[in-house]
Amino acid sequence: MERIDRDKLPKHIAIIMDGNGRWATKNSMNRVLGHRKGAEAVRAVVKTCRKLGIKYLTLYAFSVENWLRPKEEVRALTALLKNYLEEELNEMMDNNIRLMAIGDIDALAGGVKTTLCEAIEKTSGNQGMCLNLALSYGGRDEIVDGVKKIARDIRSGTIKEDTITKDMFSQYLYFPEMPDPDLLIRTSGEYRLSNFLIWQLAYTELYFTDVLWPDFSREHLLEAIADYQRRERRFGMTSEQLSKD
Ligand code: IPE
Ligand code: IPE
Ligand code: MG
Repeated sequence: MERIDRDKLPKHIAIIMDGNGRWATKNSMNRVLGHRKGAEAVRAVVKTCRKLGIKYLTLYAFSVENWLRPKEEVRALTALLKNYLEEELNEMMDNNIRLMAIGDIDALAGGVKTTLCEAIEKTSGNQGMCLNLALSYGGRDEIVDGVKKIARDIRSGTIKEDTITKDMFSQYLYFPEMPDPDLLIRTSGEYRLSNFLIWQLAYTELYFTDVLWPDFSREHLLEAIADYQRRERRFGMTSEQLSKD
């Protein structure tokens, strides 16, 4: 098993959980069963991150583009989400996990939206780890929404144009207090971001694996973290500069 350095843990891990459909096809099943199996992988990963002491875990559960999928699949994903939230709420409370969501939450069906908002509210005081679900999320939409909010604040006189900076812009995104991800994992052998956190991933370490999401286990996660820990994050500087600190 991979050895993890507890002093060099990523503070924020973001995951593009991809490959449920292909997992189902490979196992001669309906796509929905792939998503169901994917939800089990979510449980294991949340548990492992919490145990390790990861502070933020953001999971890409449904993109704004995923609305284009067949209606039955969207319906099944919504039902699975509701089920997951209902079943995991006690677990989140017991483990001091705060639930958050980023994306166009209002676009979600009424029932699941209520369950989600209740779980967010109920867990809002928990500080062990933040489990952040990207739901009906699009990175470009998030940026455009931020620009609109800034325009509104300029118009009302709350802020002036020349006070806009990168840090200030981040405060206009969906979850301002969330630090940028240190590590991004994408499963299923796809090498793209699919409109995920495109502002926040500017300096994130990227990790791609061929493993399909339903097969992604605790060991795979530890392997990804170990790989991250072997990297040198230079942020534009030279190796020599970094070793001086
Ligand atoms: C990821 O698995 C889950 C969601 C996007 C909701 P996919 O459903 O995209 O699986 P593939 O890519 O078809 O295998
Ligand atoms: C990205 O996966 C979205 C989620 C994992 C929720 P997709 O399977 O939708 O991505 P594309 O369409 O193949 O890029
Ligand atoms: Mg996919």
